[in-house]
Order: sequence, then C-alpha cells, then structure tokens
Amino acid sequence: MDIPEQVLCSLDELGDPASRGFSVRWGENRLEMFVVRRGDDVFGYRNNCPHTGAPLDWSPDDFLDADGIFIQCAMHGALFSVENGYCVLGPCAGQSLSRVPLTLRDGFVSLDVSCFTGAAGTEP
Ligand code: FES
Repeated sequence: MDIPEQVLCSLDELGDPASRGFSVRWGENRLEMFVVRRGDDVFGYRNNCPHTGAPLDWSPDDFLDADGIFIQCAMHGALFSVENGYCVLGPCAGQSLSRVPLTLRDGFVSLDVSCFTGAAGTEP
C-alpha cells in the first residue's frame, strides 16, 4: 500500500528562516497550508488564523514577522511560535495554529495526507 505523501518542495528551495505557502489538492480534498524552515527543521500549519479563520500571509509566502522569529498574522498582527504554533501575542493569545504533519526525507519536505483522509476519505 502506498503511503499517501505529497512532496511539497526540497529543503534547499526554502530560505533559512523562510516560509512558503502551498495549496495542496488530492482527490476532492484541498488544504491551504504553509511551511516554515528554521535550520534543518520544518514546521507546517494550516493557513488559517485562530482569531477569525483568515489567511495569515502578508503577501504570498510571507508568513513571518520582520525579524523572522515569529509567524505573524497579516490581519491583526498576532504572533505565533514557529515551533508549536502557539499564539504568544495578539487577539487570539493562548490559542494555536493547526499543525499539519510533515516529513523531511532525503532533503525533501512532504505532507502526510493520511491523517486528513482517514479510513472514510473525509475532507480535512
Ligand atoms: S485574523 Fe489573525 S489576528 Fe485577527
């Protein structure tokens, strides 16, 4: 049985630190998400702010604050930890971004879509 992974990009395609948005489709499913690279680690989240559900990016692929330390929501400026998505400042302080499972193998970043489809193939 094939592992339902979808390759997003190579690690070398991402700056350090840097972020990049993806619109992932498989079957009838679609996921708006982004990846943040910090060193040899990558972190993935859905592109929805817990405050209003709005997309987080300032402009395409721009999810980080000016210093590249926090994920920042473009709408009202909430700041989130890159490592765990926890909101440390802003109107949704104490809430978290929704993580998406990534794997980093042989220099490529992949999304594991199996956790979204489940046995019934439900939409994420
Ligand atoms: S929509 Fe993100 S902080 Fe308000």
